[in-house]
Amino acid sequence: MEDRVEALLAEMTLAEKVGQTHMSANLDPTADHELIRSGGVGSSVLASGATAGNERDHGVRVSAVNATQRVAVGQSRLGIPLMFGRDVIHGHQTVFPIPLGLAAAWDEDLVFRTARLAAAEASAQGVSWTFAPMLDISEEPRWGRVAESLGEAPVLAGRLGAAMVRGFQGDPDAGTVDAGALVGAGSGGIGTVAACAKHYVGYGLVGGGRDYETVQVGENTLRNVHLRPFLAAVRAGCATVMAAFTDVDGVPMHAHRRLLREVLKDEWGFDGVVVADWDGVGQLVRQGVASDLRDAAAQAITAGVDIDMVSGAFAAHLEELVEVGDVPLALVDDAARRVLRLKVRRGLFENPYAPATSPEPGADPLLSARSEPRTEPRPESRRLAREAAVASFVLLTNNGILPLAANPGRVLLTGPFAREGEALLGTWALDGRGGDVASPASAISARLQGNAIVDDGRFSDRTLHLVRQADITLALVGEHPSRSGEANSVADLGLPAGQLDVLRAMAALCRPLVVVVFTGRPLDLGEVLDLADAVLIAWHPGVEAGPALIETLFGDRSPAGRLPMTFPRSVGHLPSSTLARPTGRPIEAASDPVAGRYLDTLVVPRLPFGFGLTYTSFSYGPLQLSASEMPLNGGSIEVSVEVTNVGERTGREVVQLYLHDVVADVTRPLLELADWVILELAAGAVGTATFTLTPAQLSYYDRSMTLRIDPGEAVVTVGRDAANGSSARITVTG
Ligand code: NOJ
Repeated sequence: MEDRVEALLAEMTLAEKVGQTHMSANLDPTADHELIRSGGVGSSVLASGATAGNERDHGVRVSAVNATQRVAVGQSRLGIPLMFGRDVIHGHQTVFPIPLGLAAAWDEDLVFRTARLAAAEASAQGVSWTFAPMLDISEEPRWGRVAESLGEAPVLAGRLGAAMVRGFQGDPDAGTVDAGALVGAGSGGIGTVAACAKHYVGYGLVGGGRDYETVQVGENTLRNVHLRPFLAAVRAGCATVMAAFTDVDGVPMHAHRRLLREVLKDEWGFDGVVVADWDGVGQLVRQGVASDLRDAAAQAITAGVDIDMVSGAFAAHLEELVEVGDVPLALVDDAARRVLRLKVRRGLFENPYAPATSPEPGADPLLSARSEPRTEPRPESRRLAREAAVASFVLLTNNGILPLAANPGRVLLTGPFAREGEALLGTWALDGRGGDVASPASAISARLQGNAIVDDGRFSDRTLHLVRQADITLALVGEHPSRSGEANSVADLGLPAGQLDVLRAMAALCRPLVVVVFTGRPLDLGEVLDLADAVLIAWHPGVEAGPALIETLFGDRSPAGRLPMTFPRSVGHLPSSTLARPTGRPIEAASDPVAGRYLDTLVVPRLPFGFGLTYTSFSYGPLQLSASEMPLNGGSIEVSVEVTNVGERTGREVVQLYLHDVVADVTRPLLELADWVILELAAGAVGTATFTLTPAQLSYYDRSMTLRIDPGEAVVTVGRDAANGSSARITVTG
């Protein structure tokens, strides 16, 4: 493979090499014909604009993609195929729960299967590259992009992210992907897409949760927290990495040589492609570190950016920068080599075209694109979407009202989401269509027929009349997806305007009330938790939202999710997460008036990380350790706990292992998720969750940025969430 890349590179002119580093938006076979034919562009992002996740576009025009590719392959001097990138974030045509919801399932296999299906659907349309997984660690729910993330814990995001990478790219251990089996006969093709770990790195630390805001963080925290999921993705073979829009302590990531070239490429040995974010190279000028686009191009290629997404800085200036000696040719060679390697590895030279359509040469591609029939989610795909949605639901409170009785009487379905379809797809669902979504209204009507009362969705005081007529009210509230995702930060974590007022009025009628919250972020739900009989977090669940929800509320299935982010008490409590590290005056010292607590409120989260109920309950036995000492070299300890299903239904428990290194070279998290085990237990059954603890799980970067493991004491905690567990001390011996 490397020989093939080098042979190609040897044939290329400087202009052609620069072309491989340039990504255009929505390349058009006619308007961009000359650019493509001359080898002046290497890839195309299929997106409606700079914040594409918030907008609907026309979908992928497969015949236009193929026509564009035909110019590159058939008419350019070297016939190098183009890559077509698209944000396939949580499904393609079959939309799954938003990533934060998928993370709530804590299920690597599920994430793998959703990514594999998304890749098969996308690649059938000529997409060869997705910009996912998003691995930004954030303890900042005001930031709308937490919806796209896999939660606050590096180990959870890392493992789920690696599973997503394998799903998108094809698991090397699982052999080739049978795309036909996934998306239907006749699709064939590569069936996989290149993945992209983003946004490298520290984006989740945007000040005040304001999108794109500057970031203050040191390299040690980056290494011990924020870089970890990226390393996991790179180790899983992730083909590309996207630079973050933000700076890190004054140096914008698109110019951050230390983190891109020295850490990612040199230290980790990443031989894939670093792609800029949308206009990220150009933004160096607005960030005030580059005087103009030429300067921006020089800084970005030097830092290690290989592909310039849409700013045009590389295309306009790299050639001249090399010719006058301001940028070494070796840097452009390195970038072009990485892009070619990606294309060879992905099999693009053998399979450049989308298999779904094969337009006749000469046909007007745009005309035929407009009349292309859209593929609807297949029944098998919907089954997976329903499974994923149920697995993502997190039950927060339940006084026994759930699951609903088979014949519950008259059930009112109300709230702004009762009749919704499209809004339940969530942010970044570019190829999902509202018409494909099975709404809650249709699902409840199908189930209860005449006993279902479906409100008009206005959720006003008129609704109270309906509440009086019903035996049970299901209120579907929360955030529209346009309130989460990119560029959508909020300063208040309460429910959107007016919703709490209506819920209060409903609760005042003292009728049974179940509240379902659709959301892209942790919310401040304090009062809702008190006034409702049950509260279920449903995130934005995707195409099977309605049936998944109604089946769960009626107990055909049990809610299975656990919070992948802490739910804080209020905005005033932020940051509030499991990333907290010890201070010199710990807050456990309740009698200490200067212990760092608030004067006016409790400091502990409203709902801890890892929290979630289901329709049964579990009791935990004592923590068992196979030894209390673990030799640093090659040692391990079996940590186990017996868990009993003490309820009357089968249930799924996520048993969680947390670690704290008592004495280290730098402050270490008080309670860091290290591992988890999922137990499925029938009523009355007893299971054992066993963890094999190794010294590597206590490794961390020290003051000199060296990875190390210390001999000494560590606290091991096993429990149902970050606030409920049993602890024991172990000693790592030298
Ligand atoms: C900007 C976003 O930050 C990024 O996540 C996305 O992949 C690109 N736009 C491309 O749409």
